[in-house]
Amino acid sequence: MDAHPPLIEHAGEPQSNALRGRLSRVEPKGLRTYTPSLAMVARSQGCYVWTPEERKLADFTSGVLVSNLGHNPVRWWQRVWRYMQLPDVHAVSDAFVSAMPLTSYNAASELEVDCCERLLANMRAQPGGGRMEQVLWAASGSEAIQKSLWASLRFTPGRDVILATRRGFHGKKGLANAVTGSETDPDRDPRVRFISFPTDECCDVQRRREPIDLAPYERELQSLADELAGRFCCLITEPYLGGSGSFHPQPEYLQLLERFCRQHDIIFILDEIQSNFGRTGPMYAYTHYGVEPDIVCLGKGLGNGVPVSAAVGRADVLGSLDYGHGSDTWSAHPLGSAAVLATLDEFETTDVLAQGQRLSATLEHGLERLKETGIVANVRGEGCVWGVECRDIGALTGRDVANACVKACYLGDDRGRAVHLLGPLASKVLRVSPPLVMPVDEARDYLDAMYDVFGTVAKQVS
Ligand SMILES: Cc1ncc(COP(=O)(O)O)c(C=O)c1O
Repeated sequence: MDAHPPLIEHAGEPQSNALRGRLSRVEPKGLRTYTPSLAMVARSQGCYVWTPEERKLADFTSGVLVSNLGHNPVRWWQRVWRYMQLPDVHAVSDAFVSAMPLTSYNAASELEVDCCERLLANMRAQPGGGRMEQVLWAASGSEAIQKSLWASLRFTPGRDVILATRRGFHGKKGLANAVTGSETDPDRDPRVRFISFPTDECCDVQRRREPIDLAPYERELQSLADELAGRFCCLITEPYLGGSGSFHPQPEYLQLLERFCRQHDIIFILDEIQSNFGRTGPMYAYTHYGVEPDIVCLGKGLGNGVPVSAAVGRADVLGSLDYGHGSDTWSAHPLGSAAVLATLDEFETTDVLAQGQRLSATLEHGLERLKETGIVANVRGEGCVWGVECRDIGALTGRDVANACVKACYLGDDRGRAVHLLGPLASKVLRVSPPLVMPVDEARDYLDAMYDVFGTVAKQVS
């Protein structure tokens, strides 16, 4: 294993190259997911980040679907500040006597209570949110998933089987990792059994609009029921396969899973860590997928960048955890509560969801056009979360082509328009997920830049 992989360097980036060199000495590479650009960010505002050389990059990642409201929105920060009861920073120091503490371990505050109540009210107000009764806070997505599974297992003593959908991604830690992937992964937790998630039926935007044949999934579920009836505890799935390359199923598939859960008294957990707060269109994906989960896991965009996550759902299930079972240092910390409240304020008082839906149509059109370059095999997505699958070209794999595109988009076109992308998912799928607030004309301009850059890559590789 190479502890010191080749340094990522780009021509014309002296400060960034020096920083990448220093970084490689002080952090192990495993901290990051590989991206051939490894952008060094010196500042950010709205839908853009800037390198130390002052090169402007349109952020088509939102971090990793985190900053749905863009980076550092002023009104959002003012709200966070007010919820934290922080005074003007220039005010006299004793004004800080009113400020909230930065920990809530062994103590709680009205801020936390308000935040739970507001979040629950927001979730219940959407179709499908009828079971949202309590909030079990956490700091990262995988922790929220783990807590939802712990609570489910304790709620159903003697029922040890966790059902998960194949090729899902729920996190890298503990039980969250155990329900990720499929049974072919080594060291699989024997309690977890997998069922297929549609990929062929929703392999592009057009096919997804056609009805899905549920019969193969019904057969699979029936054979699991024949084998394991009485042992099912919970079923965990995502609205769409994100990490596995953007497969967005027809709603009827999730509705089938929900029906199965109801028939067998199984706790239905929906992982909305990527999709929450408007990513797929509505506030939560459960609304337009037409399901009513028992537990919904939230994260990423929930705090617009402040680390906060939660398992939200039925009080009887979450209440099965005893004192301490779901506690940890950072859960429910006041800064997280302030961030969630400020984010809810923005979603509840502005037209950010409508803006996201306008942006969605622009993204679909601009990304579909990339197929004309000959290096894109498929485009899949909904709302403001899209996947662009690259083709194998000659001796180059789709992964090589995707990596070449990420790097070329980062370096920009001949008009200096550059796009910040994540490294490819599922080896060859580029994720496009800009902040929901990106103005449509700016998105169109940068999609045009991507078209030009992809065209250049196509010439180089063919
Ligand atoms: C759907 C989904 N669930 C869970 C997680 C895990 O979240 P975290 O990385 O915050 O632990 C992710 C992260 O990408 C995700 O996309």
